[in-house]
Amino acid sequence: MQDRVVVVVGATGGIGSALSHKLAAQGARLVLVARDSNKLSHLANQLNVTAGQVLTVPTDITDRQQVTTLMNKAIAQFGQIDALVNAAGAGVMKPYGNLEPADLEAMLDVNFKGSFYTSQAAAELMQERKSGHICNVVGILGQHSMPMAAAYCASKFAVVGFSKCMAEELKRFGVKFTLFYFGGVNSPFWDNVQLKVDRKKMLSTETAADAILYALSAEPQAVPMEINIQPESHLFF
Ligand SMILES: NC(=O)c1ccc[n+]([C@@H]2O[C@H](COP(=O)([O-])OP(=O)(O)OC[C@H]3O[C@@H](n4cnc5c(N)ncnc54)[C@H](OP(=O)(O)O)[C@@H]3O)[C@@H](O)[C@H]2O)c1
Repeated sequence: MQDRVVVVVGATGGIGSALSHKLAAQGARLVLVARDSNKLSHLANQLNVTAGQVLTVPTDITDRQQVTTLMNKAIAQFGQIDALVNAAGAGVMKPYGNLEPADLEAMLDVNFKGSFYTSQAAAELMQERKSGHICNVVGILGQHSMPMAAAYCASKFAVVGFSKCMAEELKRFGVKFTLFYFGGVNSPFWDNVQLKVDRKKMLSTETAADAILYALSAEPQAVPMEINIQPESHLFF
């Protein structure tokens, strides 16, 4: 990953932070993205890298204008974007009858629209260069259903839908897409989720980050299209 420019969205989260540490250790140049600027600065300071190797860009990805500014700042600093990793998101888990319009909007805004905006903005730059890699951390609920997850699942199925369409449009321009279907990953994601889960049975953030690193490091002619890793037991309840 030496000198590759990677935009990590959701860099301060469980998966994004584990990945950022691994990428930094391999010499990648990083654009760290999330909303909370203090957490971003803290993460950047933790990474054992030179100042010019890391750029932090506080961004709310639900705002298309902020996403445009993010990409402009990344290009101004590094001149190119080799890879985008979308590891931002949130989970509202409730019985279907309790889902409010605001819950649907929250899920669609960050999980669907946010990752669409970043994918779209990065893809345009990558298409121009005829090279690039977009990694979308969907989760297994982009493929399968679960009780209490109607809004979350819908937002994640949407990510799979747009990613697969964009992958078809962009493959002739040398732009790859990889979708990650992780089962439960033990991260702060679960701190505010109102479900009874056994976090000890979940995947570690290290495992998730290693899978993303594998895809990013694959030989240029290889396209790891979908990676599915589940915890040994799915019985969270
Ligand atoms: N944990 C799991 O079990 C699991 C399994 C499969 C897939 N996933 C998916 O993987 C992704 C990352 O999950 P995680 O477990 O690492 O979650 P996490 O620890 O809760 O981290 C979420 C990250 O997203 C950022 N974020 C949230 N809303 C944002 C917004 N509007 N704009 C920009 N950044 C935003 C957060 O930072 P700020 O709050 O500062 O913005 C944080 O950096 C999510 O899409 C999640 O759905 C998770």
